[in-house]
Amino acid sequence: MVSEYCQTNIFLPYLFSLGKINCQKHWISRKTPTFVPNFKTTSMSKFRLSYFAAILGIAAFSVLAFNNMATSDPDGPPTNRCGLYGTQQTCTACHSASGVNNATATIAIGGNPTGYTPGQVYPITITATGGLSYGFEMACVSNADNTSAGNLANSTGTETANGTVSGNSIRFIRQSTPNNAGTWTFDWTAPATDIGPVTFYAAILAANTINGTGNDNGDKTRTATLTLAPAITCIPLTVNVSGSATFCAGGSTTLTANGGTNYAWSNGGSTAATTVTTAGTYTVTATDANACTGTATTVVSVTALPTPNIVASTGTNCAGGTRTYNVSNPGPSGTQYNWTVTGGTITAGQGTANVTVQWGAGGTGNIAVAQTNP
Ligand code: HEC
Repeated sequence: MVSEYCQTNIFLPYLFSLGKINCQKHWISRKTPTFVPNFKTTSMSKFRLSYFAAILGIAAFSVLAFNNMATSDPDGPPTNRCGLYGTQQTCTACHSASGVNNATATIAIGGNPTGYTPGQVYPITITATGGLSYGFEMACVSNADNTSAGNLANSTGTETANGTVSGNSIRFIRQSTPNNAGTWTFDWTAPATDIGPVTFYAAILAANTINGTGNDNGDKTRTATLTLAPAITCIPLTVNVSGSATFCAGGSTTLTANGGTNYAWSNGGSTAATTVTTAGTYTVTATDANACTGTATTVVSVTALPTPNIVASTGTNCAGGTRTYNVSNPGPSGTQYNWTVTGGTITAGQGTANVTVQWGAGGTGNIAVAQTNP
């Protein structure tokens, strides 16, 4: 239902000003104006009677003319009724609701982009539900300076209009005729350059009646907004990996990546450092805060443990003598040495690469070592 609007008294001013009505004629013709002159003929002069007769004649003509004009030139809502900036008016400036507001309004961008690419054309779809006939208005503005962002182009059933809101020049798009489907699709061309985030503001009217029924109770308005930041152009991240690309059989190496904030390794590792226990090609994908990525690949090889070479050092291997032996080519840290001595006794160092042997009272002695890597 329309309140603020001059709908109820449009007929009289229209007649007396012969068309110069100072009010919006936004489908006013679809209403059937009702005019019941309330005067008493007895109290009227002949002049006044003929004056009113003339007026009534003009009225009949005017209703036809007005209907024809508005029907052939339908007009959308006034500019700046889409709840711009979250503070401006909506359709409720004239259409007042009654009952539960079960209407919905959505703004969708074709392809659901996560950001806009300057200059690119995107199809925008406005969808309204909860009524029998629908209208909408939408504008898109820069979050930085509140002026129109990009361009809105007409499509079937829509029209554009420019307005000024708080000194900012704004382009609005709205229905050109009420729509019974509640959906409109039209093109938005993103700003030619990166102007930062932009916000779409839309208001829909879910009217309770289709055109011409004259019933305007229960119109419902909903607003919707959608903010779109510029798409980020990623330069691939430079990712470096440190750590040994070889290790001895049974061992491991730790590879550590840098260059991002999050990491995903091909072996399932999800932190900067990952421990590798088998030979192979390891790829890490680094991601930064803008979701830009970079990768690095490391080929890891495993070297077999060297055959331990036992060297005798201090002391003597005469009968009853004490002597130390060590492995001259030890394995990586953590390698275990299991010494075996016959003809003597190990007095120190079992398990390590250096061992002390107390030889027995003569005859033949043997010393051997087996190494294992944990
Ligand atoms: C300046 C007052 C005014 C504003 C603001 C206004 N309208 Fe209207 N609107 C009217 C009048 C008057 C009518 C004709 C009477 C009716 O159908 O309720 C109308 C009718 C309509 C109709 C046709 C309804 C039907 O029953 O077929 C639609 C759709 C519509 N308006 C949409 C909108 C939308 C969308 C907005 C907000 C973006 C809006 N209007 C804001 C005055 C206004």
